[in-house]
Amino acid sequence: MSLQANHRLLCPGPVNVDSRIARALTSAEPCHREDEFEQLLGSLMGGLLAVADLSPKTHAAVVITGSGSAANEAVISSIVPEGGAVLVISNGEFGERLARTSAHHHPQTEHLAFAWGEPIDLVRVGAALRARHFAVVAVVHHETSTGMLNPVRDVAALCHGVGSQLYVDAVSSFAADPLDLQAPGIAFVGTSAGKALSAYPGLAVVFGTHEAFVRLEAIRPRTQYLDLGRHYRMAQEHSQTPNTPAVPLFLALDEAVRLVLEEGVAARMQRLRSHQEFIRTRLSALGCELLFDASVATSNVLTTCWLPEGVGYESLRVALRQRGFIVYGGKGPLLNRVMQVSALGTVDRDALQAFFEALADAIACVRLADAQTELQTVTLNDVAAE
Ligand SMILES: Cc1ncc(COP(=O)(O)O)c(C=O)c1O
Repeated sequence: MSLQANHRLLCPGPVNVDSRIARALTSAEPCHREDEFEQLLGSLMGGLLAVADLSPKTHAAVVITGSGSAANEAVISSIVPEGGAVLVISNGEFGERLARTSAHHHPQTEHLAFAWGEPIDLVRVGAALRARHFAVVAVVHHETSTGMLNPVRDVAALCHGVGSQLYVDAVSSFAADPLDLQAPGIAFVGTSAGKALSAYPGLAVVFGTHEAFVRLEAIRPRTQYLDLGRHYRMAQEHSQTPNTPAVPLFLALDEAVRLVLEEGVAARMQRLRSHQEFIRTRLSALGCELLFDASVATSNVLTTCWLPEGVGYESLRVALRQRGFIVYGGKGPLLNRVMQVSALGTVDRDALQAFFEALADAIACVRLADAQTELQTVTLNDVAAE
């Protein structure tokens, strides 16, 4: 297999990066214990806060070398006081992963699990929060496994009412879908570099108020590497990281953040929305029924559709890959039943047009190949029967 293969990545991370981001990756070789890296980290933290519409006076953006799961595990393992209970609300793969991460660190984890793609029932959330005090509640903003956006603001208001801190996993939605990080009740928000921020994978970001970060000093960290309080102190006091950071990824993310700010956060979200509207119209026209109708809040990151009649996911994936496009399939109960189409990074309308031509062709070829295989099987069975 050629590692040079440059496919159009229509998955929700990794993404095809802008050439400026690719150049930034190798633009310098700063030592991470010297001034240059400290300036870079200062610039990156400031840029991330600007994308989040937060002031450095009240908030911090802590950058950790690791994928999106590093943000989730750093927060969940660091912010729960000894013996504190955690409520994880889920309606898909990534909510369920949050529940597993929490159960690993905290015996007092309760999991309020909705079916995949089922909207979160706020009445049930309210009842759970009244039944017991939870130090921390965790929820995913954009459930990437389905494409549903969860009502984070409403969940945050319920948490605020009972004095629970809410952690929001915005790993796939930050910089693509609106999220008020200052909504009362939200304590921390996590994201990653390689999705809607459209840089390379490998860096995780945690946003929170200085107050919330400082409170971590009173809590025993459950991990060394992902001790969020330590990451915060190193960043705030020294513009540094506790361990060796993936410096080239910091250079690339700093440039990616600059690109987001140049385009404007609202304009970028609008562009991604319009790509998804185009994708939804074209998928429907090809007979790929959407997982959700228009009454459901869906993200600007991706669209999930059922596979067309008689087309298996693996055959379709391979046919699309041969035509230069990478898409994602389903997980869990959606395995082999759906396809997901994203348009992050440098994917533009021309690329999407080309994708839909390839998709129509791929569906026709897969159906023809399957029909031929079926015919051969029938003929072979006939021969065997004679
Ligand atoms: C909502 C959400 N949370 C967490 C993760 C895990 O991120 P990573 O695979 O970067 O660790 C993902 C990955 O797709 C995600 O979409």
